[in-house]
Amino acid sequence: MKEHRRAEEVYVLKIGGSVLTEKGTVRRVRKEAIKRISEEIALALSTAPKKLILVHGAGSYGHPQAKVYLESREVKDALITHEAVKELNGMVVSSLMEFGLNAMPIHPLSGVESKGGEIKYKIKEQIEMALKMGIVPVLHGDVILDEKEGFRILSGDQLVVYVSREFKAGRVGVGTDVDGVLNDEGEVIRRITSAEVEEMSIEGSVHVDVTGGMKEKVFLLAKLASESNVPSILFNASKESNILKFLTGDENLFGTVIGYKK
Ligand SMILES: Nc1ncnc2c1ncn2[C@@H]1O[C@H](COP(=O)(O)OP(=O)(O)OP(=O)(O)O)[C@@H](O)[C@H]1O
Ligand SMILES: [Mg+2]
Repeated sequence: MKEHRRAEEVYVLKIGGSVLTEKGTVRRVRKEAIKRISEEIALALSTAPKKLILVHGAGSYGHPQAKVYLESREVKDALITHEAVKELNGMVVSSLMEFGLNAMPIHPLSGVESKGGEIKYKIKEQIEMALKMGIVPVLHGDVILDEKEGFRILSGDQLVVYVSREFKAGRVGVGTDVDGVLNDEGEVIRRITSAEVEEMSIEGSVHVDVTGGMKEKVFLLAKLASESNVPSILFNASKESNILKFLTGDENLFGTVIGYKK
């Protein structure tokens, strides 16, 4: 992706729950990863200030809890899911603040709802105002209220598509614990066009992932590319410097680009 971007262009970065937490467990955080990532973000923004919207996944602070809710359908279990992911969000925001950034949480449960099968986002102005003030809004996968079903799950990946579309993002990065989208031989596919996605066979996740894992992620990003002309890059955020490379527009960032044309 060429790097001749205007300073006011919005960057969207998602950090997967697979990076921030130990996904095969319940409520185990990777403190070192959160610290390293915060440091990389702070360094990148101090050298080249830009508007950044951060989204993070839930990992072990959401997927196992949401699975319990989806089976029980008890209000209490949905709220436990929210509490868990809010705890992870608090750790991410605090860590960013410790590295000198102004970061603020935006909890989807308080500003997004589902009506008539559609997701209604009421968080755009808030995000806009925060960006104008140089604040990094930090969103996360969450449970949201649904008119008919009680609650439904809104994934971090869905939020990435929403904010990237609404803010016409100049650069969209999705970090997980793998180097990109892997083919059957385990090699990274360097580029996928939205047209190719339909013919691909991608698995979900090796861990509990109530929002469809890699398969749904690629599908959503392909949709973002084809419907809104916004390409994205999927890369390994567990590896040091990759977030820094993403935020500084380094073309050597290794990963899978999901675009709309060859
Ligand atoms: N073809 C594939 N290429 C790459 N990863 C794949 C593939 N098929 C399945 N996966 C799995 O997808 C996982 C990443 O997706 P997953 O949803 O678990 O992570 P995440 O989005 O970072 O977490 P969260 O949903 O908590 O934010 C990888 O750890 C890998 O096991
Ligand atoms: Mg996921």
